[in-house]
Amino acid sequence: MENWKERYESKLCTSDEAIKKIAGVKRIIFEHACGESVLLTEALMKNKELFKKTEIIHLVAMGKGEYAKKENSEYFRHNALFAGGTTREAANSSYGDYTPSFFFEMPELFKKGGVLNPDVTIIQVSYPDEHGYCSYGISCDYTKCAAENSNIVIAQVNKFMPRTLGNCFIHIDNINYIVEQATPIIELKIPVIGEIEKRIGEHCASLIDDGATLQLGIGAIPDAVLSFLRHKKDLGIHSEMISDGVVDLVNLGVITNKRKNINTGKSIVSFLMGTRKLYDYIDNNPEIELHPVDYVNNPFIIAQNDNMISINSAIQVDLMGQVNAESIGSKQFSGTGGQVDFVRGAAMSKGGKSIIALPSTAAKGTISKIVFTLDEGAAVTTSRNDVDYIVTEYGIAHLKGKSLRERAKALIEIAHPDFREELKRKAVGKFGTL
Ligand code: COA
Repeated sequence: MENWKERYESKLCTSDEAIKKIAGVKRIIFEHACGESVLLTEALMKNKELFKKTEIIHLVAMGKGEYAKKENSEYFRHNALFAGGTTREAANSSYGDYTPSFFFEMPELFKKGGVLNPDVTIIQVSYPDEHGYCSYGISCDYTKCAAENSNIVIAQVNKFMPRTLGNCFIHIDNINYIVEQATPIIELKIPVIGEIEKRIGEHCASLIDDGATLQLGIGAIPDAVLSFLRHKKDLGIHSEMISDGVVDLVNLGVITNKRKNINTGKSIVSFLMGTRKLYDYIDNNPEIELHPVDYVNNPFIIAQNDNMISINSAIQVDLMGQVNAESIGSKQFSGTGGQVDFVRGAAMSKGGKSIIALPSTAAKGTISKIVFTLDEGAAVTTSRNDVDYIVTEYGIAHLKGKSLRERAKALIEIAHPDFREELKRKAVGKFGTL
């Protein structure tokens, strides 16, 4: 490892030069979510004529996603592990794909011999430390495994990428081409918390005891839950991701991680999406560690913390308790992500609870999210056997151990009042009585 600086210098190139080195490869994996190197994606698009239906794979897309557009389909074919604003159309078209997978199993797909083993992984990392190790920064998840198992690794070394700690480093010897450039890291817009989210947040918070360890998804509901936890004591974090809301609770002394059974004293995450406030908090901070997703989201690891609480959202829940968190009818809207990993981990944790929290309606109150049956073609993300708590702004339905009839009754009680009569009529038609 000595003299790594000379080897580092020898790998330096421009973004165009790096992309030209991978002309014609079959499969590229991008660093996940806000970790995407916008600079290298732009260079890829600028040099698109060097590629012929190269497969591009990643989970949450936070960049422009131009490689997923129809007009670029002769150069690239996008394979989404999670559909998003810029990739949803491709995922539901003839020129793109969607591949279902639990988040914690994705690294296995990317290993040598795995069905999605990449030729190239494109990453964005912090500056190397004195030993030549760069931090993966805000995205360790599957990115580390993909980079370790691909033939070529291209890295943007960016002074704005925080140096996060944990099991999230790559040595410069394992990078083939290095592009040193300072560009802004993608930031997540802070969601607006409305009245409905506040009521949901309050119900969820009532299920969280002092000393619990939390997993929180993205969006207004998790942020609303956090705002009701300011009076709690010694909470812990073991979550696939966190956003800015957690920093406030750390500063208030609510999150201490003291009572965790594993990784005591540390928040454990796999990726981060937030604003500069979050990115500055995590920089070189031993209070928080990033680990690969096959550790963080592994249900057997999650279960080792007692009182594990997972909070995720959904598109629809039917009266049996089947949770669709990813499709609108047969159209892929988002993805499975880590929802089931944490639902199962929480179920195995002593005192654990999994919560699916959602507004009772969508489309300005015109559609009920509590439904008699899921829409035709909808995916079941969390099965009726796995489901535990469902929360809406109207209350809490605890489904575990309840019969189908009892579930229907409990769910109708937390549906929007405008839809309760119709749901009741259908349920009585099925069960004879409620
Ligand atoms: N029928 C029709 N449309 C619906 C609907 C339904 N039942 N439920 C939601 N929609 C529409 C909304 O109206 C909204 O449309 P708009 O953008 O035109 O307003 C859109 O779908 C998004 O709904 P919203 O409730 O705002 O979604 P969200 O941002 O809160 O995300 C999930 C909810 C379920 C999509 C998201 O949590 C997810 O993808 N989860 C799966 C993965 C997961 O849980 N991972 C673990 C944590 S990261």
